[in-house]
Amino acid sequence: MRKLIFAAASVAALALIGPAAAQAPIIIKFSHVVAPNTPKGLAAEKFKELAEKYTDGKVKVEVYPNSQLYKDKEELEALQLGAVQMLAPSNSKFGPIGVKEFEVFDLPYILPDLTTLRKVTDGPLGARLLKLLDSKGMTGLAYWDNGFKQMTANKKLLTPADYKGMKFRIQSSKVLEAQFRTLGAIPQVMAFSEVYQALQTGVVDGQENTPSNIYTQKMHEVQKYTTLTNHGYIGYVVVVNKKFWDGIPADTRGLLEKAMKEATAYGNGQSAKENDDALAEMKKSGKTEFVTLTPEQDAGMRKAVESVYTDVAGRVGKPLIDEFLKETRGATN
Ligand code: LMR
Repeated sequence: MRKLIFAAASVAALALIGPAAAQAPIIIKFSHVVAPNTPKGLAAEKFKELAEKYTDGKVKVEVYPNSQLYKDKEELEALQLGAVQMLAPSNSKFGPIGVKEFEVFDLPYILPDLTTLRKVTDGPLGARLLKLLDSKGMTGLAYWDNGFKQMTANKKLLTPADYKGMKFRIQSSKVLEAQFRTLGAIPQVMAFSEVYQALQTGVVDGQENTPSNIYTQKMHEVQKYTTLTNHGYIGYVVVVNKKFWDGIPADTRGLLEKAMKEATAYGNGQSAKENDDALAEMKKSGKTEFVTLTPEQDAGMRKAVESVYTDVAGRVGKPLIDEFLKETRGATN
């Protein structure tokens, strides 16, 4: 796959120095792993629409959904090599390229709601986190929402004991690994595009994801139960290849920034509704049974994963977690 990425990057480089370069539109290949009818898919399409409109055709945005071009880990490599120009990986996927700080968003129960999330992403902490991407050859442009995660499996997951010995697919985040290990489960990192089949064939027993992702990947059709835990958050950082971005004429880049700002407001303004709609569709389908936790069961789950905060402090540093908590809870703990 690396070879393929290199080949694609060289073709892209040749295209830039070809004779028609002066008139040719700037192409932004935007690769992502989810379906078009998801919060990320729709925001990407909105960005395309606005970017092409504002630049009057000087920029063309090609959106490639559903891991059509690259899977999770490959797409980050492809971006760094210049084979694609724009991505929106989830916060959980930056650890393997050496920016583990984004994993703080994965801490269980750290975000009570999307309004609180905005305090972090729109504030100084959000800006500082984006800056960390510079050293990896990327520019962080925006935070896009998906929503809150639910657990799926072929059994009801009511108490921590129910997780014992079960295999769960996770995104490539050490926080998520710690979360499932603390529960006595066996976490397994796997690309998003492989999850449905892994659930269907029993390679893993369960997974955690947002209603929109569960529904559009049809995971609910192969999981008897969806336990409504809202225990964690999935959101994205829109990143662009830094060299490519810096090389765009300033006036055009300004128009693209405007398009990104508006696409972000559009996407984040309706992500909650998209997840609610997905949940309603799954309920209607009758293919998975929804399980709601009692307040005692919810408290039991929260308590069981508390130690993950200490684990993660050792990895990303306690000050970062404290700063995050100060924004989200108004106090350190
Ligand atoms: C996942 O891998 O489960 C998600 O990050 C996919 C996505 O991009 O929403």
